[in-house]
Amino acid sequence: MTALIISPGNNLQDEIDLLKDRARICLNGRVSRPHVLGITSCQRGEGVTTVAANLAVALAQEGNNRVLLVDGNLAHPSLHKVFGTKEVPGIISSLGERYRYGGHWPVFPVGNGLRILLSGGRIDRPERILRDPQFKGFIEYVKPKYQTIIIDCPPVMGDRGSLILPSLCDSIILVVEAGKAKVEVAQRAKALLEERGIDILGVVLNKRKQPIPGFIYRHI
Ligand SMILES: Nc1ncnc2c1ncn2[C@@H]1O[C@H](COP(=O)(O)OP(=O)(O)OP(=O)(O)O)[C@@H](O)[C@H]1O
Ligand SMILES: [Mg+2]
Repeated sequence: MTALIISPGNNLQDEIDLLKDRARICLNGRVSRPHVLGITSCQRGEGVTTVAANLAVALAQEGNNRVLLVDGNLAHPSLHKVFGTKEVPGIISSLGERYRYGGHWPVFPVGNGLRILLSGGRIDRPERILRDPQFKGFIEYVKPKYQTIIIDCPPVMGDRGSLILPSLCDSIILVVEAGKAKVEVAQRAKALLEERGIDILGVVLNKRKQPIPGFIYRHI
């Protein structure tokens, strides 16, 4: 497992590039390279969407890298805000007979080899949708079409069903907000993921306030 500190005062892009490099080192060291990478947290607001969107953009900018970013946080979606699009169409609005085949999901380009699948609305109890075989079928369908699929997942300690999406991923990155998440909560989240056999690729300690410039931390 790798760990990375992201601080509000530092250049987020530099930090995401570092995360991308570390993720690549971990991914390359594996026998089978994970295609589907989930980003999750212990609780709400720790920075999952920020990390997922920036990592997806950074990977797609490498060229020849087809990346799909999925808004799997169906109760509190926000990728549409990040990319300045409407909330629909997306997963919720598309589940139905005519979308039974994976290729008909409303995946659309946002530039540089990056495509996104939005939430397509919001729903309080998304378990039913996430357990729908159509959704699982969609992930299997798109796997061979993209080098990396990044899923913005709901927090682990959230609603029932919060582990459904991480279970569909090959690996996950856990975002922990410095000074907010209690150690016990982070440990519980880690244990919940591990109990399900979910591979934790690494942890991002986000929004860490650093009294000295961030680059110095990388050398100590
Ligand atoms: N490293 C960072 N530096 C500064 N601000 C940050 C950082 N990471 C996240 N934020 C800010 O914190 C807020 C919450 O971030 P974000 O929406 O990414 O969290 P989230 O975990 O996706 O939340 P939710 O649980 O609502 O989906 C946003 O206003 C975002 O801009
Ligand atoms: Mg979010």
